[in-house]
Amino acid sequence: MERMIPKAESITHLHLLSIVNTEIRKTKKPLIRILDVGCGNGHLIAYMTQALVSLCPSTEFEIYGLDVNDSSVQSENYCLKTNKLLSEKYPEVSWNERITIITSHDRFPFVEGFFDVILSNQVLEHVHNHDLFFSEISRTLKEGGVAAHLYPLRHYFYEGHLHLPLVHKILNYDILYSYIKCLSRLGLGKFKLHKKTTGISLAEYTKAHADYMYFNTNYLSYTETLNLSKKYSLRGSFKYTQEFYGNKLRSLLRLKPKYAYKTKRASLFGWVAIYVLKYLSSVTLFLEKENTYRKYSQADKK
Ligand SMILES: C[S@@+](CC[C@H](N)C(=O)[O-])C[C@H]1O[C@@H](n2cnc3c(N)ncnc32)[C@H](O)[C@@H]1O
Repeated sequence: MERMIPKAESITHLHLLSIVNTEIRKTKKPLIRILDVGCGNGHLIAYMTQALVSLCPSTEFEIYGLDVNDSSVQSENYCLKTNKLLSEKYPEVSWNERITIITSHDRFPFVEGFFDVILSNQVLEHVHNHDLFFSEISRTLKEGGVAAHLYPLRHYFYEGHLHLPLVHKILNYDILYSYIKCLSRLGLGKFKLHKKTTGISLAEYTKAHADYMYFNTNYLSYTETLNLSKKYSLRGSFKYTQEFYGNKLRSLLRLKPKYAYKTKRASLFGWVAIYVLKYLSSVTLFLEKENTYRKYSQADKK
């Protein structure tokens, strides 16, 4: 009998699950270790824990979470809530050992090659030191391991945190402040709603949100992302990006979600898709820690 796959609270969770399901089917390993970097409230971990058991009952999964305590994206002590949520749902797992909080300057507290899969959801646009982040992904992934990161690129037109167009492209603080104030005064973005619920003034709202954009976001471009992937010896592509939109469409049409994606794909279509989709919403960076030429050239020398 097919076990029940829980309903995802977000298409982003469903999409990351489908990538993991697609990729691990190729490996047929008995134990898969997964890391959710920037795990936040732990909802993706909770969903994956139940859904992967239903999709792949013969595989054992160990899911870990990592986040930082020096990014003001999360409220104070959020990790206590994460631990509580996961411990209530899955008391048999010792979540104190599985969820780790570090600072954004630290290396990941795992030995080399510990993970088969590394995921992140809406995190890369908040990371300040992308070099450290990519080098730690590369170090802690197993040879042959994969990583999938769902996040918006700098090309994105409509900034999703403030709901204002192009605000994430402005680096100069004065211009950023004036731009947010001007668009908020015109009724764009979230100011009206915040004023209604909290009574905040336009000046206070603008200052807090200019600070949010300035200190808490750091958008990468398409080229910067691929250069970082290459620099840290990871094969970088955006190959699962169009499937995210496929699952979004299926959800709108109330069709059954796709839990497994095609592994053979028309790369020209994917290339055209990323060129358009990077302006619209999140993309999926897919990383593979594999270099077949190294093996090939060594065999050649023997
Ligand atoms: C928008 S939240 C997303 C949280 C969660 N992934 C989700 O989907 O709900 C961004 C997360 O990235 C985390 N973060 C920021 N910089 C980070 C870094 N350098 N390494 C790991 N996590 C980071 C933040 O603390 C926050 O939890």
